Amino acid sequence: TPGLCTYDPGFTNTASCRSAVTFIDGEKGILEYRGYPIEQLAESSTFLEVAYLLIHGDLPDKAQYEQWVHDITYHTFVHENVKTFMQGFRYDGHPMGMLEASVAALSTFYPESSNITDADNRNMQIVRMIAKMPTLGAWAFRHAQGKPYVYPDNDLSYTENFLAMLFKMSEQKYEPDPRLAKALDVLFILHADHEQNCSANAVRSVGSSQVDPYSSVAAGIGALYGPLHGGANEAVLRMLRRIGSKENIPGFIEGVKNGDEKLMGFGHRVYKNYDPRAKIIKKTCDEVFEVTGVNPLLEIAQELEKIALEDDYFISRKLYPNVDFYSGLIYEALNFPPEMFTVLFAIGRTPGWLAQWLELVQDKDQKIARPKQIYTGDRGLEFTPREERW
Ligand code: SDX
Repeated sequence: TPGLCTYDPGFTNTASCRSAVTFIDGEKGILEYRGYPIEQLAESSTFLEVAYLLIHGDLPDKAQYEQWVHDITYHTFVHENVKTFMQGFRYDGHPMGMLEASVAALSTFYPESSNITDADNRNMQIVRMIAKMPTLGAWAFRHAQGKPYVYPDNDLSYTENFLAMLFKMSEQKYEPDPRLAKALDVLFILHADHEQNCSANAVRSVGSSQVDPYSSVAAGIGALYGPLHGGANEAVLRMLRRIGSKENIPGFIEGVKNGDEKLMGFGHRVYKNYDPRAKIIKKTCDEVFEVTGVNPLLEIAQELEKIALEDDYFISRKLYPNVDFYSGLIYEALNFPPEMFTVLFAIGRTPGWLAQWLELVQDKDQKIARPKQIYTGDRGLEFTPREERW
């Protein structure tokens, strides 16, 4: 049964999960959403069309696409009380913490969302979450910068609207460079889903208790926040900055081989080949840098990749660049500060989390997540009274 997540007996942290949403072949570096190769979707689709594909299982016809875009555009506004809630955050709080808390808070604004058995209600919450994630992400960014929040401009496309809410600095209409909006749309497509990654597993585990989708997705945001998962793109930029020049790369590589640290943006639980998304992002780098100018860290990243891919430590462990190795360079060129990189990842991943949540809640055989444990502690001890122990 699609979506049935079971925990294999005898393995504490290995779960097997059947799903029809995303296919990955880690050895061959293949990624498909609902059977469509990621290369074709990145080349020819839009993020909202891919979101429809992930949620509904196939590409929309014209009427379906126009209705989907209309519905999402109509729901980009967030209740004013959520804005008040966000204004209570520390001024310099990490935007991912603000996003996680704000999405969880949405469950209190839509109490009907707990009725997960009603199909129309489920679809309403899915539309709301895809629509509001950029608004909440942009407001978290503006909050951390001490700037006034910018309301959605629904005359703009999804990605242009997001850029406007982030960077608009005056009353006149903000019109982002369409080439940059297109590049961001491609990045959202590339991050849209990735089968049973850590954050999708968190969404499924929490969702299996039949809680509302906002609480489930907030759990996914919390998992993505971690430096080994979504936080890696931010860590890559810090790593490249710390290396500082191509001359320092050999010394850095030695440190990695000595186990002092990991080469962030390299390696993957599933890909033991080049992450297909990294290839597309590398190409998108060139398109963005034509507009913004080349990010000086690109040269260090390219040399680091070249040296690592020729080094037996990485070859023997099948460590290749993953989706995070180059994405941060683009985000920085688009004027995003590093703490916003994982927020961008979360906005892109939202349709994938929701597609997997929907698959889970529609599966009548799904049981609550309950991993099997292998107990390794003491047994049958005798309690000694405190006066005898102290
Ligand atoms: C994402 O799951 C997904 O699909 C995630 C994701 C998605 O779209 O949702 O693709 C997004 O999270 C991408 C990954 C982003 N994280 C990073 O780039 C952080 C750096 N990468 C590593 O932390 C690591 O590669 C992981 C966490 C991604 C995978 O770790 P694993 O599966 O535990 O790696 P492993 O144990 O199979 O590694 C085998 C060996 C080990 O060395 P030995 O013990 O055999 O000597 O390779 C080493 C590891 O120490 N290793 C690395 C390394 N990654 C693994 N050594 C140096 N640098 C690295 N990056």
